[in-house]
Amino acid sequence: MKNTIVATLVLIATAGFSWAGAPEGKEVYTAKCAPCHGPNGEGKAAIAKMYNVTLPPLASKEVQAKTDNQLKQVMLKGQGKMKPVSTITEKQAADVVAFVRTLK
Ligand code: HEC
Repeated sequence: MKNTIVATLVLIATAGFSWAGAPEGKEVYTAKCAPCHGPNGEGKAAIAKMYNVTLPPLASKEVQAKTDNQLKQVMLKGQGKMKPVSTITEKQAADVVAFVRTLK
């Protein structure tokens, strides 16, 4: 009986956790990524010009082909001309990945 209760609680906790991802990620994305990548990941022309790069749309095949872990590394460690987003936590980065997956 006790085990059943524990198992049920674990299930609820895990489900709650996975629901949290994308909406929470959207908030973090809007605050920390949208200034450069635009509200829907399309990329801001002025930023691309300033960094002299092509900002790949986050919904593109190229970006979506990256694994969750690779996307997290881009945020936490930076890539090319993108500096690491120093104010983001591992958990927030995982939430942002969940949000980025909703863009495709
Ligand atoms: C200060 C501007 C800036 C911010 C803030 C920023 N990025 Fe970037 N991002 C860039 C630039 C510039 C590039 C292109 C880098 C290059 O090609 O050298 C880039 C590239 C990327 C790429 C593509 C990497 C690849 O290999 O194709 C991803 C994915 C990405 N950013 C995600 C994010 C996410 C998610 C956030 C928020 C946590 C974020 N970025 C915040 C400027 C920014």
